[in-house]
Amino acid sequence: MRVLLVGSGGREHALAACLSRSPELEALYIAPGNPGMAPLGTLLPIAADDVAALVAFAKEQRIDLVVPGPEAPLVAGLTDLCIEAGIACAGPSQAASALEGSKSFTKDVADAAGIPTARWERFEEPEAALAFVRRRGAPIVIKADGLAAGKGVIVAQSLEEAESAIIDILTDRSFGEAGASIVIEECLVGEEVSLFAFCSDNDAVLIGAARDHKRIGEGDTGPNTGGMGAISPPPQFDRNAQEKALDIMVRPMLAEMVRRGTPFRGIIFAGLMLTEDGPKLIEYNVRFGDPEAQALLIRLDSDLLPVLKALAEGRLDNAAIRFTDEASISIVLAASGYPGTPTKGSAIRGIDRAEAVPGVSVFQAGTALNENVLVASGGRVLTVCAKAETAEQARARAYEGVAAIEWTDGIFRRDIGL
Ligand code: AMP
Ligand code: GLY
Repeated sequence: MRVLLVGSGGREHALAACLSRSPELEALYIAPGNPGMAPLGTLLPIAADDVAALVAFAKEQRIDLVVPGPEAPLVAGLTDLCIEAGIACAGPSQAASALEGSKSFTKDVADAAGIPTARWERFEEPEAALAFVRRRGAPIVIKADGLAAGKGVIVAQSLEEAESAIIDILTDRSFGEAGASIVIEECLVGEEVSLFAFCSDNDAVLIGAARDHKRIGEGDTGPNTGGMGAISPPPQFDRNAQEKALDIMVRPMLAEMVRRGTPFRGIIFAGLMLTEDGPKLIEYNVRFGDPEAQALLIRLDSDLLPVLKALAEGRLDNAAIRFTDEASISIVLAASGYPGTPTKGSAIRGIDRAEAVPGVSVFQAGTALNENVLVASGGRVLTVCAKAETAEQARARAYEGVAAIEWTDGIFRRDIGL
């Protein structure tokens, strides 16, 4: 098979590593990729959200399967354009990608499907929204309805914070059109877990679960990031609990999407809060998480390529998908300054020494080559991952890997998985 993989982060590097092991792979193209992925495929100078250029390339190069990593090309309609061109694409249609692209759409679907989730209301008028939060009081959660690069959610601890979030989003349009409407919802309390599954129309096959560490600082302090590390499985959320959650949180959604005439085919990422009253849905994403994917994919024990092809064609085979029973962890090394302006250009050495630690894999994201020296060129730069029989062993191995990397501007959290 000739495959076009879309994206350039650690998640896509992990996907590329799985795809490149497939005996069915004939050629792998990656748009735009990163230097870490160069040994695995041909890098293309096409941006991940330039869907027209991606499809033109796929047609010209007779690509058999397109594998989208991030959400942007999905929300921009990459899958629909691929289908029009007769090319399989392992991701949801633009209509089904609204599960990530619109918070109010997701809440509507969850309500129609009877999926437990926080009580909510949608507002376009700041006055009505302000009156609502004054009636309800804090804590309360304010969300820009559209895609806001992971920054559109404010968990307001005080009424003042809630009011200023409403004015910020609805009146000042700090997220542009993504904030033309907002969702205000009840604040849920509990531990968060992320559940992942391959889905095709009415079928879902469990991938696994992970816990992300979103804040930049140790002890969950400081601003939110794209994710600074993940563990899989999360404590107190074993395979049994994951299968049960799939029945409650994912399968009814799939049935509702089929009923609406916009079936979901792709990878679903359900963000759940384990509350005192049982799990509740926080949100869906229509793709793998980063850095959750890296922790999950290093335990994949089967060939990913036929699984993704089957998914794109609406036939899923439970038996073809196996993960080992090991525990795994991913630790993000980011450039100092992240999640603000990251420091760029400093040299990174020792990836080979890190990967010499048993069970350790290193995936690249914001890296570049400068006269054959690997340098930092973005916010999240490396993900150091490890698997082992126990979570403690995996953690120890991953931090041994991190210690082997020489990079003066690198920052990371020492408390991933603690
Ligand atoms: P999102 O940008 O949708 O991933 O949301 C970011 C984070 O906001 C989630 O991971 C939760 O930690 C938090 N969050 C979202 N909705 C709620 C809610 N209803 N109650 C409490 N926390 C929430
Ligand atoms: N790590 C969270 C995400 O990928 O959305």
